[in-house]
Amino acid sequence: MEALAIELVGVGKRFGARTVLAGVDLRVPRGGRLGVIGPATAGKSVLLKIIAGLHHPEAGLVRVAGRIGMLFQNCALFDFLNVADNVAFPLVHEGGVPDHEIAARVTARLRAVGLAGSEHKLPAELSGGMKKRVGLARATVASPDVVLYDEPTAGLDPVTTAKIYQLLCADHDASGGTAVVVSSDVEAVAAFADTIAFVDSGGVRWVGPAAELCDADDDVVRGFARGTP
Ligand SMILES: Nc1ncnc2c1ncn2[C@@H]1O[C@H](COP(=O)(O)OP(=O)(O)O)[C@@H](O)[C@H]1O
Ligand SMILES: [Mg+2]
Repeated sequence: MEALAIELVGVGKRFGARTVLAGVDLRVPRGGRLGVIGPATAGKSVLLKIIAGLHHPEAGLVRVAGRIGMLFQNCALFDFLNVADNVAFPLVHEGGVPDHEIAARVTARLRAVGLAGSEHKLPAELSGGMKKRVGLARATVASPDVVLYDEPTAGLDPVTTAKIYQLLCADHDASGGTAVVVSSDVEAVAAFADTIAFVDSGGVRWVGPAAELCDADDDVVRGFARGTP
């Protein structure tokens, strides 16, 4: 049997009277790369936060093997911490990691995302693309087994978008770790992911190989993938 990194069975989540997710089943094998697409307010971010353990579902089971890192949709950087301290946060929070090792890992991650030299800048001094890259460095600095990326390229120009996906590819080629990427850049995420899940109205409407997305046997999914109504 294939080893699973993430398994969701019959997951349901509501906020007050509003049901956001219902009956969600999802399985991601270890080392798998899942892309999650779908219309706005479908429940994609809530789904990622459930996987991360930040929201608790009312129904169903959630299993995640190993440690998790997450890039939030709005980056969620600490505005009072500089770039280096933002990236160091998961290691500091973990405790027991020696200061010199924290410094070395932060430096290495910042170099990997192309931000060497920006250690002392505050989030307010950064462009949108730089914030995303700080968020990427922070999500991966503690070498998590599973990395969740919520809209890693939203609002970025096509060149920066391509660079971010190159980074994701390089990271996951090197680590062999599991990735879940929620993205509105359908073409880019389909090129990165091996599997795509289409989330619509709180459920997983379609799951299949990324290579088959544009020929999905579902008009809505195919139209969304091709950008045609
Ligand atoms: N903490 C919350 N409290 C109440 N409603 C929420 C909360 N988080 C998300 N929602 C609602 O859940 C729905 C799905 O949100 P979200 O997962 O952010 O959508 P998206 O697919 O665009 O990422 C939206 O209608 C949103 O308003
Ligand atoms: Mg979202």
